[in-house]
Amino acid sequence: MLSGLTLLASTVMLLACGSGGVGGGGPSSTHSHSTPVTPALNGFPAAIIPASNPYTEEKMQLGRQLFYDTRLSGNGSQSCASCHQQDKAFTDGRPLAIGSTGETHPRNSQGLANVVYHATLTWANPALTELERQMEVPMFGEHPVEMGINDQNKNTVLSRFRQDPAVMKQFQAAFPKDADPVSFANIIAAIASFERALVSSDSRYDQFLQKKATLSASELRGMNLFMGEKAECFHCHGSFNFNDQVKFQGLSQVDTPFHNTGLYNIDGKGGFPFPNRGLFESTLRAQDMGAFRAPSLRNVAVTAPYMHDGSIATLKDVLDFYAAGGRHITSGIYAGDGRTNPYKSDLITRINLSEQDKSDLIDFLGTLTDEKFLKNPRFSNPN
Ligand code: HEC
Ligand code: HEC
Repeated sequence: MLSGLTLLASTVMLLACGSGGVGGGGPSSTHSHSTPVTPALNGFPAAIIPASNPYTEEKMQLGRQLFYDTRLSGNGSQSCASCHQQDKAFTDGRPLAIGSTGETHPRNSQGLANVVYHATLTWANPALTELERQMEVPMFGEHPVEMGINDQNKNTVLSRFRQDPAVMKQFQAAFPKDADPVSFANIIAAIASFERALVSSDSRYDQFLQKKATLSASELRGMNLFMGEKAECFHCHGSFNFNDQVKFQGLSQVDTPFHNTGLYNIDGKGGFPFPNRGLFESTLRAQDMGAFRAPSLRNVAVTAPYMHDGSIATLKDVLDFYAAGGRHITSGIYAGDGRTNPYKSDLITRINLSEQDKSDLIDFLGTLTDEKFLKNPRFSNPN
């Protein structure tokens, strides 16, 4: 639903708001390599910052203010942080997100750690590659309504900020050349700068790689399973960001794979429930049915529930699902044997995991929690 058509509709809406394009040339806009957000920590590569929105501390701080500000929604009830909470690695703990007017989103809120490195954004939208573009969806989208900014209330939303001298000062500091800095284009540029600063690279696993921490026997066994050919997790979660869609400076080829993991098979022909058919929603190609982006597993211990629709409650359940080679739903409207989904990835097959193996894997995933990131005051609510 949020792919293709909705994105187009919300882009039109943004232009209708009179703010003009934000990202310049869209997905293919040129990139500046001269403005680091944050030093590349613990072996992370340097991130790509679009030339159309150079990073500055002032923009990041304004973006942080706006990210937490409920005035940035039509009815003043919701901010980005309502669905993206720092202590949960910027997820919200719900299976499905709920927008400012009470509409249920078809999908699970995603974490924002290391989002600057994502080659495509959201669960399954190959066309969405810039944070500036993605933001139009929660702000202006109507299917579902998230923050609910529309033609009727857009001026009210902007005037809320114009009437606040402290926030006005931040706008002026972030956009010193603009006579009237309070615009949706600038709001989006600032929040994107905040998002680019959200780097999580100091988990116990990172410290282990740097020989600053040790892992327990169980965590080490879990790591070997994760990285080995028996469990095969690394095939799709094997980058430095524990996913398989990354972009960064100097990378010659950016891959954007999507995978069907066998969660559903509602018609016996591989069907996933509308509007959660993954890549199929934008391509309408049969082979893309149920194909989703592999999420980064950094901080995954604090981002339950799991999967694009929040339909798996715990990490233990996720491991049972992988061990079975897919999910067999025996009753209800989604009944069907996902294990035999014809579009399922060849990498998802029954794995002979003992209960010990599963708990070792869960222990290893726990080492990816970055406590400093979850508590970093730079990323917290400034008010
Ligand atoms: C109503 C809850 C809600 C609100 C409010 C919300 N989001 Fe989200 N966010 C989501 C959901 C759900 C997804 C997954 C969307 C999908 O896959 O279609 C998401 C995805 C994202 C992503 C993609 C992350 C990735 O891994 O690719 C980014 C970035 C993001 N949101 C940023 C924001 C920003 C910035 C704001 C405020 C302007 C915001 N969100 C407001 C629920 C919300
Ligand atoms: C074929 C690629 C592939 C392999 C192999 C794979 N995954 Fe995944 N993983 C995915 C995709 C795609 C999703 C999202 C599926 C969805 O939501 O429909 C996912 C989701 C997850 C999630 C939920 C994360 C979240 O934020 O919701 C966890 C945890 C996870 N995988 C762990 C593992 C582990 C552990 C292994 C090895 C046993 C593994 N994965 C093997 C592709 C893969």
